Amino acid sequence: MTDQLRPDDSVPAAPELFTWEFAADPYPAYAWLREHAPVRRTRLPSGVEAWLVTRYADARQALADQRLSKNPAHHDEPEHAKGKTGIPGERKAELMTHLLNIDPPDHTRLRRLVSKAFTPRRVAEFADRVQELTDQLIDRFAERGSADLIHEFAFPLPIYAICDLLGVPREDQDDFRDWAGMMIRHGGGPRGGVARSVKKMRGYLAELIHRKREALPAEPAPGEDLISGLIRASDHGEHLTENEAAAMAFILLFAGFETTVNLIGNGTYALLTHPEQRHRLQEALARGDDELLATGVEELLRYDGPVELATWRFATEPLTIGGQEIAPGDPVLVVLAAADRDPERFEDPDTLDLGRRDNQHLGYGHGIHYCLGAPLARLEGQTALATLLTRLPDLRLAAGPDELRWRGGLIMRGLRTLPVEFTP
Ligand code: HEM
Repeated sequence: MTDQLRPDDSVPAAPELFTWEFAADPYPAYAWLREHAPVRRTRLPSGVEAWLVTRYADARQALADQRLSKNPAHHDEPEHAKGKTGIPGERKAELMTHLLNIDPPDHTRLRRLVSKAFTPRRVAEFADRVQELTDQLIDRFAERGSADLIHEFAFPLPIYAICDLLGVPREDQDDFRDWAGMMIRHGGGPRGGVARSVKKMRGYLAELIHRKREALPAEPAPGEDLISGLIRASDHGEHLTENEAAAMAFILLFAGFETTVNLIGNGTYALLTHPEQRHRLQEALARGDDELLATGVEELLRYDGPVELATWRFATEPLTIGGQEIAPGDPVLVVLAAADRDPERFEDPDTLDLGRRDNQHLGYGHGIHYCLGAPLARLEGQTALATLLTRLPDLRLAAGPDELRWRGGLIMRGLRTLPVEFTP
């Protein structure tokens, strides 16, 4: 009899995943998985069976393993799971050719082109605008003494920021806010409202790109928007087609929106529930010391990051992860939230330490799909948290942890609402 088959009372029973309790605090379940079943085949709520990878070393290796494809065509979907691993039908056609659904060499070509337009420098030049947006949003509730920080702050900030960066005219940005709201409220499910919102967004972006291409001046002007930069970008004489540019604009919105909402939401929540760390940060900010803000936002990403599981991967050939054999076609989900609390990698992983130094977390992924928007996410996260804590110094939660609800989605982790109070 092997160890695996012998009943062992010292091992607690496997935790139930994907319940409400799990959504509120998945970390004890992840600790169990890391210890007892680090690469585990699991039936997801959608009915799809996938391997969950929870240890840091395995996770980092899997994220960079090119035998794991991002292309859902490699998944031989059983009938009951049809359409559950990809993106809903409406988005399939043209918007499918985006970075998170393709492999090299296509990925290499598209990523190189977008990197020419979406540079860290372009993001740095955008800092004043992010500060202005942040202040305008806080102005709207600062006199009231209370707010829901998800709906009034964390949600609108990233959508206006990315629209501005892309070059979506201000008068159209509220349409984007509404479409994005529909997508975030109903997750990625193939429900009518989501499909309609995606269709409208796609139609709008295609037309905007077409208009901008027609009107593109010969030379880039200072402060040129990102869509014009995407149209202009060339690599060895190659350009993005209009469809590729639309898919790229869409993935920038899609990948950069709910993630940043949750960075601001989860990050603020973690600070409000760890008063010592929050005061430490407020004192540093008052001294004009921004270093703790920079390490602090990285720590908030590690401690309770927006992306709980990396996006889908599919085995293209037989391989092993952490000693477990994986068959071709099997879906693999790397659990970033579990890897980033692995005691084999992080000292006191369940402790929030804003000054943590040795912090190579996987919150932005790893390997060729490493988050393209990390500089923008850092800028928005740092600006949002610093401004909140400086302008509303006695900010406090207006609901107990038991009253807060977490969204039940698979990939993302974030709060539905975050009611707060403060002295106006
Ligand atoms: C990829 C996290 C914000 C654009 C990724 C991946 C992660 C991630 C984990 C890799 C997924 C995988 O390998 O399956 C985050 C987090 C963010 C954030 C935690 C906020 C705190 C943004 C923003 C943008 C963005 C603001 C753009 C405006 C992208 C793109 C990819 C990506 C385009 C795909 C890159 C590729 O496949 O080459 N992000 N992201 N992200 N992210 Fe982000």
